[in-house]
Amino acid sequence: MKRVLLLLFAAITLSLQAQELSLVPLPQKVTTYEGCMQLDNKSIVVCYPQTDDNSYTKVIDSFVDEMKVITGVKIKKSYPKKANIAGVSVIKYTKKGDVHMTLHIDPMMCDEEYNLCIKENKIDIATATPAALFYAFQTLKQLLPRNVAAGVADKSIKEWRLPFVDIHDKPRFSWRGFMLDEGRHFYGKEAVKKVLDIMAHYKMNRFHWHLTEDQGWRIEIKKYPELTNTGAWRDSKVLGWGDVKPDGIRYGGYYTQEDIREIVEYAKEHFIEIIPEIDIPGHSQAAVASYPEILACDPKEKHNVWLWQGVSADVINVSNPDAVQFAKDIIDELTELFPYRYIHLGGDECPTHKWERNSECAALLKEIGTQNYRDLQLNFYRQIKDHIAQKPSEKQRELIFWNEILHGNTALLGNDITIMAWIGADAAAQKAVSLGMKTILTPQIPYYINRKQSDRPDEPHSQGYGTETVEAVYNYVPMKNTPEELKSKYLGVQANFWSEWVVTADHLQYLLLPRLAAVAEAAWTQQDRRDYKEFEKRIQCEQLFYNLINVNYGKHIFE
Ligand code: ACM
Repeated sequence: MKRVLLLLFAAITLSLQAQELSLVPLPQKVTTYEGCMQLDNKSIVVCYPQTDDNSYTKVIDSFVDEMKVITGVKIKKSYPKKANIAGVSVIKYTKKGDVHMTLHIDPMMCDEEYNLCIKENKIDIATATPAALFYAFQTLKQLLPRNVAAGVADKSIKEWRLPFVDIHDKPRFSWRGFMLDEGRHFYGKEAVKKVLDIMAHYKMNRFHWHLTEDQGWRIEIKKYPELTNTGAWRDSKVLGWGDVKPDGIRYGGYYTQEDIREIVEYAKEHFIEIIPEIDIPGHSQAAVASYPEILACDPKEKHNVWLWQGVSADVINVSNPDAVQFAKDIIDELTELFPYRYIHLGGDECPTHKWERNSECAALLKEIGTQNYRDLQLNFYRQIKDHIAQKPSEKQRELIFWNEILHGNTALLGNDITIMAWIGADAAAQKAVSLGMKTILTPQIPYYINRKQSDRPDEPHSQGYGTETVEAVYNYVPMKNTPEELKSKYLGVQANFWSEWVVTADHLQYLLLPRLAAVAEAAWTQQDRRDYKEFEKRIQCEQLFYNLINVNYGKHIFE
C-alpha cells in the first residue's frame, strides 16, 4: 500500500512538474531536479559528430543561429574528427565555466526518439536521427521563455535559465498530420509557411495539402496549363450555400512549380513531409471545366469552375483513356515535385450519376465484370497504381485514399494502400486494417477543426452547426477499441481543415488554434499520460507564443 501511495505521489509530482514546464506536446517522461543552469555570461560549446551528408550540422546550425540572435548567448561549435557513432562523447572539455552541449548518436534509439538531459554545466542530447535532434531542440526551446520558440528577440529578458531536467521522449504515432484544403480558398505561400511553423512547434510531421477541388485547381501542371489558366479561377469569392449567393467577384490563385519547390524545401527544414492530394475523379469540376473534351462525361455541355459548396456531380469520365492518361501525367509531375513516399488521390464523395447515364461507362462496367459503378472509380485508380509500379524504385509512391473507396471492390487495387478514415472513422479504419491496409485516423467529429470551436455568439461562421471545442478535440481517443494485433497498421492521426467558409488566413488561424495543439498531443503523447484539465493549464503558455508569431487563435480558452 505504502509503495502504491509512493508511486502515486511520484506520478502526481511528475505531472505537476511537466505542467510547470509547459511543454506541448507532453513528453513521455520528464524528471525535474532542484536548480537550473544560468546561460548568460557563459559560452555554450556545442559538440557533435559530423556525418557525410551534414544532416546533423544543418539542424545544429539553424538552432545555434536562432539562439544567438534571440538570446544573445555566446555559442561555439566543436566536433570530433571521426563520426561518433558509438554514442560516447570523445571530447574532453578544458575550459571551466562553459556549458557543454553534447550530441550523442545512438543508433539503438527509435527514429524520432530523443533524450535531453540538462544538469550542472552539461546539456546532453541523444538521438538516432536529425529529426529527433530537431525535436529535442523544439523541447529545449520550450524550456526557455516562449519568445525563443517564437523566434522573436526580447531585450527585456536579461537572464536565460534552463531547468535541470531529464527528458526521455518519443512519439506515439509516426503520422502526426494536418490537412489544409486550398481548393475552396487559396491562402498563399506565407500562410502555408506559418502553418508549417506551428506544426513543427508541436512536433507534427505530415502536411497533407488538398490542392484540387470542384471550386479550384491550385497546382501548376506543365502538361495541362488550362488547369491553372482556367481551373484556378472562378466568378465568386464566397462559395454559395443556402442564403449565401455567389458574389460575382473574380477570385483564385495557384502555386507555380517554383512555389511548390520552395514550400517543399521549407517543410524539409522543419522535418515535415508533404502529401499532395489530387482529388480525382470526384471533386474535380475545376479540372473538368479546364479540359472538358477529355475529362467530361458530357463534353458538349458547358462546364465552369464551381461557385457553390457541396458535392458536385460533374466528375471525370473514368472510361475515357485520355482521362486515364491525364491522371498518369499528373502523377509524373507530382512525383518530381514531392520527393516523398505518399500521394493522396482523394476518392471521397464521388457521385456516379453521370457514369450511370454514359454508354462508354456502361460498356466499361461490363468489361470489368461488375454491376457496381463504384468499381469504375477503383478501376481508374488501379490503372494509375499500375503506372506508378512501372517506375524506377526512387520514383515509387504509395497511394492514400479517403475511406469511401472501401465501398468498391478493393481487390482491384490490392491492399498495399493507406485509407484515411474520416466518416465513421473508427469502424472504417478497422475495416481497412482487417483487409491488410494501413490507416490514418481523421475522424470528422471532432478532428475537422474548420468547424466552430465554441458556441459563443461572436464565433465566426463556419462549416456545419456543430461545435468542436478544444476539450472535445483533445478527448478523442485514437485506437480506443482496436485489437492489439491490428494496432501496428495505424500510422497515426490527422486534423483536417476544409475551407468552404474560410476566406482569409486570419480566420484559418483562428479556427486552427489552439485545437491543433490538442491533436498534436494525441499524436505524440501516450494515451495514459493525457488529461484535458492538465493540458488546459499547460496550454496557457501558448497564448504568448501565438501573439509573438503574430497569428490569430481562439481566445476563449485563455480567458
Ligand atoms: C471529406 O471530408 N470529404 C474527406
